[in-house]
Amino acid sequence: MTGRMSPNLALNQMVDRRRAAGESLVHLAFGEARLPLLPGLARELAEGAHRTAYGPIAGAEPARAAVAGYFRRRRLPTSADQIVLAPGSKALLMALQLAVPGDVVLPRPAWNSYAAQAGYAGKHVIGIPVPAACGGVPDPAALRLAVLAAKARGRDPRLLVLTLPDNPTGTLAPPALVREVCAVAAAEDLVIVSDEIYRDLVHDPVATPFLSPAEVAPDRTVVTSGLSKAFGLGGWRIGAARFPGTDSGQRLRDAVVAVAGEVWSALAGPMQHVAEYVYAEPPEIQARVAAGARLHGAVARAVHDVVTRAGAGCRPPTAGFYVYPDFEPVRERLRDNGIGDSAGLARRLLDDSGVVVLPGHLLGDDPGGLRFKAATSLLYGDDEQQRLSLAADEPARLPHLSAVLDRLAEAFARLTAPATRR
Ligand SMILES: Cc1ncc(COP(=O)(O)O)c(C=O)c1O
Repeated sequence: MTGRMSPNLALNQMVDRRRAAGESLVHLAFGEARLPLLPGLARELAEGAHRTAYGPIAGAEPARAAVAGYFRRRRLPTSADQIVLAPGSKALLMALQLAVPGDVVLPRPAWNSYAAQAGYAGKHVIGIPVPAACGGVPDPAALRLAVLAAKARGRDPRLLVLTLPDNPTGTLAPPALVREVCAVAAAEDLVIVSDEIYRDLVHDPVATPFLSPAEVAPDRTVVTSGLSKAFGLGGWRIGAARFPGTDSGQRLRDAVVAVAGEVWSALAGPMQHVAEYVYAEPPEIQARVAAGARLHGAVARAVHDVVTRAGAGCRPPTAGFYVYPDFEPVRERLRDNGIGDSAGLARRLLDDSGVVVLPGHLLGDDPGGLRFKAATSLLYGDDEQQRLSLAADEPARLPHLSAVLDRLAEAFARLTAPATRR
């Protein structure tokens, strides 16, 4: 038997167990956008309950048409037959890895499931460092060299996964960089999977323009998306993929639908009803997405302030709800406290301060690095506190948020404090 439980899900369950035993933990290791359920969504789910049939594997036409409309409003001409719905985009990402032969190229660091899925698909992973300015895409020059070197070694890189905006760095690759990466993918004949599940959570869309690889390289890009992040519906498991409108795009779509037919059959009928409603983007949904993006930005920036004040380097977050600090600038002080790698750093934060983070090596990063991912979206508190946070002009000043930010500041200060003061 092979396989290890997904580390973020495993940490989440560990937190639940220890909290149930009375421990107070600050949980930064799970990328869930926890916000109160909108009344319209509960209504749609109830209305969809009668949909008990399996239905078409790719999803029923009205739901696929709604997803196509969502992409058309984002400069991507799309028809319903380019869309496949699934129980979460994770399932679609796995099906894509199974449907495209050869090896997979990933940014390093990257969301942990890509490499794990590659393992199940029997693929070799070629990890390429991300640029200094942002994550989610490999450095283009390093990408070209690594692909050529892999081919020379007899590897067969065929698939390039990009994350726009990125988990774990909370940043978005700028358009010029997207164009450069697409040019390398075209030159080396790589299929691009552009994971755009955080697309609607850019904190300031004017300051941080979004360019999809599907606009630059339409014939070779599959976009994956879903309702888990911007729409806060992770547990409802609604994902979608948009395939190129070309013959080869339709062949790839058919290959993914073939996998789907043997694994999940179809997205659950009631969830297709919800998808049809959300992807049409009525005002209630637009307002929530905008408020969510504002809140995520404010809290991610506040956590960024905390880690940089503790001496870490960290890309300023511009999208989603993550920061990816690097404690390299204070390596010596950490070494004096017995911390020399990302596993040790995460362990110390948990043992000394009850702060749970995902160490960088679990995201493909160098185990000797002093980096971790902190998801900031679980800090918003219970239902009522989430409502207050969404409505606040300066959410980080609310008592429940400022208290947890203070606790984080103390935790990070403790990492670098002289041993006698710890
Ligand atoms: C980058 C990225 N892609 C995909 C997913 C999976 O989302 P879904 O809930 O659609 O399976 C996640 C969730 O953590 C994610 O962070």
